[in-house]
Amino acid sequence: MKVLLIGSGGREHALAQAILRSDGLTSLAVAPGNAGTQEHNVVLDVADNAAVVGYCASNQIDLVVVGPEAPLVAGLADALLDANISCFGPSKAAAQLEGSKSFTRSFAASCGIPSPVSKTFTSSVEAIAWFDEQRFEVVVKADGLAAGKGVIIPENREETVQAITSMIDGRELGVSGSTIVLEERMTGEELSLFGVSDGSTVLALATAQDHKRVGEGDTGPNTGGMGAFSPVPGIDASRQAELASLFLEPAVAGMAAAGTPYVGVLFAGIMLTPTGPKLVEYNCRFGDPEAEVILPMLQSSGLELMAAAANGTLDQISVTMRPGVAATVVICAQGYPSDPVKGIAVPDLGRSDDVCTFYAGAVRDDDDRLVSNGGRVLAITGMGDDLDSALSNSYRLVDQVTGNGLFARGDIGWRHSSIRSSKSTTSIDN
Ligand code: GLY
Repeated sequence: MKVLLIGSGGREHALAQAILRSDGLTSLAVAPGNAGTQEHNVVLDVADNAAVVGYCASNQIDLVVVGPEAPLVAGLADALLDANISCFGPSKAAAQLEGSKSFTRSFAASCGIPSPVSKTFTSSVEAIAWFDEQRFEVVVKADGLAAGKGVIIPENREETVQAITSMIDGRELGVSGSTIVLEERMTGEELSLFGVSDGSTVLALATAQDHKRVGEGDTGPNTGGMGAFSPVPGIDASRQAELASLFLEPAVAGMAAAGTPYVGVLFAGIMLTPTGPKLVEYNCRFGDPEAEVILPMLQSSGLELMAAAANGTLDQISVTMRPGVAATVVICAQGYPSDPVKGIAVPDLGRSDDVCTFYAGAVRDDDDRLVSNGGRVLAITGMGDDLDSALSNSYRLVDQVTGNGLFARGDIGWRHSSIRSSKSTTSIDN
């Protein structure tokens, strides 16, 4: 099978590794890719659907795997399917589960998926009036994609009003924030559940937990994710199946019933609230860095899984995950998330049985040196029998790499483990 993989993050390096270790692969091209996928990278404008279709036709591509959400929300899967090219990733209509928060909230209500109280607004006056009537704090969400900046958790009324007016009236996020959703602020532990769907069958893969804040103890600004582990302690197979029946199965059934079958990864963000699990959001892709802990644990063929999802035959295969736990620590360039430094020397690391390295914001410069060109530079994933051994395996290498302009959180997994970085320099002040 000839595969084209779209994307350039650590997630795509992890997807590439999963594809490369699968039987049945003839060739892999990655566009645009990164330093980790260098030998497979091809030059292709992935924002141009017609160019991607043209590349696939000229190169007899059998399957396109789309890593990030933006091309899916822009209709890349539709363009490929129109040209009879299989795609692992949802259509534009199905990708609304990530592309429109208001769509998701009304869809979830129509399917009986447990959700917080929420309401959609295009008027700041009406939004503020509704907020003032409620007895709970809210989360303010831009309706559309906003590059990680679309969710604000205000601490008081003043910050709530500021968030509402800056999105709707100030157009701070452009058209993405001209419609907003106000949601009841939920409390509890948050986790993610990942499944793969072919439009009618959905297979739950694994749970994971991310660390969104840049600072230790979950403090400081939000990031794309500073580290993750999978599975989440306390979520055994039967609890995972229960969560899948609440959040994955009804969504896939509801999308099929609406005539917009969902194909690809369905990533449910779930809050375990005191009144039961509730939906935080859906995403139409693997998380990053969640992919870097889930995909290394995939024992069965990643390529077979993605092809079966794209071709509607998921009911004919089974998925096996490795026993044990994976934990990843993201290493960032100084200044991340506001202003990461480019050009920092990045170590060239290999792979062993219990540690893998996934590159993201790293490129080779003109002298073939590996240097940073983004905020999140690489992720180091350790695997082990339990979370402590997985974290120890990761931090052993992380501690050799941090310093000299690269930093990482030293406390990934802190809610469930006492394993820490042994370095005191793993902070944003490096
Ligand atoms: N790590 C969170 C996300 O990919 O959305």
